[in-house]
Amino acid sequence: MTVGIDKIGFYTPQQYLDLIDLAHARQVDPNKYLIGIGQQQMAVADLDQDIVAMAANAAEEILTTADRQEIGLLIVATESGVDQSKAAALFVQELLHINNNIRALEIKEACYGATAGLQFAYDFVSLYPNQKALVIAADIARYGLQTAGEVTQGAGAVAMLVSKNPHILALEKESIYQSQNAGDFWRPNYSQQALARGKYSEELYLQMFTQIYQQADSVISKESLAALLFHIPFSKMGRKALQTLKTKISDVDYQRLLSRFEKSIIYGQTVGNIYTGSLYLSLLSLLENDDSLQDNERIALFSYGSGAVAELFFGHLQPHYRDYLNATEHRQLLDERQRLSVAEYEAIFKKQLVTDGSCQLIIPVRAAQHYLKKVDQHERFY
Ligand code: CAA
Repeated sequence: MTVGIDKIGFYTPQQYLDLIDLAHARQVDPNKYLIGIGQQQMAVADLDQDIVAMAANAAEEILTTADRQEIGLLIVATESGVDQSKAAALFVQELLHINNNIRALEIKEACYGATAGLQFAYDFVSLYPNQKALVIAADIARYGLQTAGEVTQGAGAVAMLVSKNPHILALEKESIYQSQNAGDFWRPNYSQQALARGKYSEELYLQMFTQIYQQADSVISKESLAALLFHIPFSKMGRKALQTLKTKISDVDYQRLLSRFEKSIIYGQTVGNIYTGSLYLSLLSLLENDDSLQDNERIALFSYGSGAVAELFFGHLQPHYRDYLNATEHRQLLDERQRLSVAEYEAIFKKQLVTDGSCQLIIPVRAAQHYLKKVDQHERFY
């Protein structure tokens, strides 16, 4: 029996900021953002699309009625939780009409959370093969207006249904992981914006990748890799990590990984950083944009969450996996987004939900199936 990703859903808010517009507004050479950072656009979430709404929207497209009955574990991984106590998964469970006989919880470890969720899901399905697990990564990356990190913001959610004999990616049991207490990126409970030691965070990412990749040498053969995917806070970060291998692997292998890498960043370059979901958006981007991958090929995924935890794990593409993707719908979702002016983006960025217990109705500009309708007496209603 194999266990892994059976279906992948994706959602991103229906409005974006073009980074050339942002560069002009911030009086920066646009090539810094386009080439130096490697990003083109970033998704902008309005108040109606918090992580609960985005998580439900991402999962809605992949779940059949039977799936909703068979799910026994629901994990929402996020850095942008809506409650200090109650798991976002409970709101999502109700919105998606998932049965009550489940474990539902939220996982937090910066951008690594969904990888932890996926590993727990793997163990769960291995133990209970007749049940499925739904893992959703949903985040809004916020650094603040006119900060160094501003250009690396974004918003979106990726939902993965994990089952036995999966249709897309069978996961391998063994993986390599590392944790250490580090102050590269964090967000105090009282802050809506992340704080980052930007350059240090890049160094630590590369350091942990190098160490884990070396460790993997003795544990797992990497020669057969068709692709190596990265957590992509911005595409230049993944490119830098890949470049560390240039002198370590053959040119043929490097060129193959590089061409697959280019396909893996297509979606992320227009969505921006979605923290926990970024690695899985890279996976989706590769699968939906690369015509050269073959069934049964082996891919590696490098997950990094500041703070910091990193993990390298592997999977095999399943026969006819393309038949189980929603590439057309995802391209349409991205193509139909509305372009915001910098002034509109800044106005949305400054919006706040009331915190005094009064009732605030949220009127979505472009309604998705699931959205935050109001807050009242400090509670959210969808
Ligand atoms: N044309 C082309 N390139 C240009 C350019 C131009 N006109 N002007 C500048 N550049 C290049 C620079 O040379 C630099 O390239 P290298 O990184 O290859 O040296 C790049 O653009 C960035 O410019 P700066 O060095 O001036 O960096 P910055 O002060 O603008 O900050 C950043 C960049 C540190 C990434 C910042 O955006 C940031 O803090 N982001 C948030 C933190 C982050 O994402 N860290 C990633 C690792 S942590 C992680 O992965 C977890 C997570 O999701 C947060």
